[in-house]
Order: sequence, then structure tokens, then C-alpha cells
Amino acid sequence: MIDKASKPIVVVGSINMDLVVKADHIPLPGETIFGSHFQTFPGGKGANQAVAVGRLGHPVSMIGRLGADGFGEQLRLSLEDAGVDTQAVTTTPGSSGVALIVVAASGENSIVVVSGANALVTPGDLDVQIDLIRSAGMVLTQLEIPMETIEHLAVICERYGVPLMLDPAPAAPLSPQLLKRVSWMTPNETEAAFYAKSLGSDAGADSLILLRALLGAGPQGVALKLGGNGVHLGDHTGLEQRVPAFPVKAIDTTGAGDCFNGALAVGLMNGMSTIESARFAAAAAGASVTRSGAQSSMPNLAETEALLHSGAWPTNSKG
Ligand code: RIB
Repeated sequence: MIDKASKPIVVVGSINMDLVVKADHIPLPGETIFGSHFQTFPGGKGANQAVAVGRLGHPVSMIGRLGADGFGEQLRLSLEDAGVDTQAVTTTPGSSGVALIVVAASGENSIVVVSGANALVTPGDLDVQIDLIRSAGMVLTQLEIPMETIEHLAVICERYGVPLMLDPAPAAPLSPQLLKRVSWMTPNETEAAFYAKSLGSDAGADSLILLRALLGAGPQGVALKLGGNGVHLGDHTGLEQRVPAFPVKAIDTTGAGDCFNGALAVGLMNGMSTIESARFAAAAAGASVTRSGAQSSMPNLAETEALLHSGAWPTNSKG
């Protein structure tokens, strides 16, 4: 199904080493608790999305920065193992990005990111990769690199007619110009509420109102990620559709949203409709939460299609 000859997806974003502890619950402010396991996993929202694309068999390149430390080479290898072209990933003096993650027994997590080399991804890094960006069928980015770099990326994408998928995480103020240059915006519920509020909308927790508020700010499409409740899709053609999640037992949800984005882009790039792409992405994300870690949990095409066609699809899809 995946057309290997189609244009590459280019990811511009963060690369982190995730330092992960498992615990019964996420500690409250001031609380000290015991954890049960400690592991390191390659992560970072940008790198996770690139690995998701690579595992699904679509050509993918990453633009980003690693630190000149022990983590840097491990993180580069993890990208390359998944088939990600890392020629535009530079190694820079200082430390790589790290994320401190607590995974609760429920599979939910809390994350603190220290940017390290990710903070040094500059607009100039994009200018030297103009040919790569122009060659892309779609560009994916997130908010773990400097905002001026994301703004510049959006200008480049608009100039060359390359669709830009923005995962607006972690939530941060976005300029009106940036929102208008985005093809797909993919917040989770918390992020969507943050952006809707900043746009003056009192959407509460109603995903349809959130969706409409975000679409009104300019992006051509919004995929509002609702975790175990699936995704709410909307675009300027009038599409408003809920796509449910697959009923799987979640072990670790870290990187599931990134997996969704990578797979959504692969679906859209390979001729699937928006809804088909979201179902494909829901299957990939569903498979990812059954395993630990971020990049280590990204499924390949066979695993994704197995879940997609498993008959596990819930019937409560509604507009
Ligand atoms: O989206 C999950 C990712 O967020 C983790 O891999 C962590 O590195 C942070 O960037």
C-alpha cells in the first residue's frame, strides 16, 4: 500500500533521551514515592514522529540537533535503525535534549523536558536545508525547538507549497500568521483548550467547539487527539468526524500522539482520505501504547495493518 517512490516526509524537531521511571501513580506536588523500574529510551517529539514514519516504510529525513555527549550517538542510531535519514541532524557542543518521564500504572505519564541541543535549532539550520524541505511531500514539526525557527519553517513551507503539520506541543503562544500557514494542527485536549482560550473561545471540554475554535484561527485541518477517546477531525471542507481509538490495553502512552502524527502523514501522503488516514493513524497509535518507551514502541506497517483489520474497530464512530 505504501508508495516508496512518493516524496519524503521531512521532520524538523526535537531529539531527546527519555529517562523513564515507572510508578504506581504520578506524584503530587511535594509527594515522594517509590518507583519500580528505571530505563532510558530514545524520544523527543520530532524524532518520535520521524521514527513512526520510518517504521511504516515511508521515506523520511530529520532536521535537528544532538549534543556531543553519550546520548547523542545512541539517539542518532535509533533514528537510523528506523530508516530515518539523519544527514541534516548535526552534532553540536553541549548536551542532548533529555526528558524526565514518570509512567503511572494506568499508562498515563508526566514529562519534563530539558532542551539541550534542541534549543540551538536555528532558522539558519533550515536555510542550509532548503532543497530538502522543498523536496518534501509534507513537513512535520512540534514546539520543542525555538519558536523563531518554527515561524521561519512555516514561511518556507508556504513559499514552496509544502504542507506543514504542526503538533502544537508543549502548548505555547502561537502567532496568527503561523496558524494561517499550517495545513494540519494536531493538539491533544489540554493543548486545544489552551489555544482555544488564547483565541478568546470558552470551549470548555467540548471537542467539537474546540475544533471549530481552532479551525477559525486558520489551519486548513485540525486533528484533535483525545487519547483513548480517539480523534476529532475537522477541516475547511466542512468535515467534522469523530474517529474512535482501538480498544487496547495501554502499558505506556508515551509517544502515542507522535505515532499518530507520523502515521497520519503517511496515510495522507499515500492517497488515503482524511478519515482513512486517521483510522490508519489510530491503529498505529493503538499498537504503540501496548509497548514501553517512545521510539521503541512505534509499530511497523504489518503490525499497524494487523490491528486496523483485526475487527477490534469500535462501532461508536459519530460525526
Ligand atoms: O511526546 C513524547 C515525547 O515528549 C517524549 O519522547 C519526550 O522526549 C518528550 O519530547
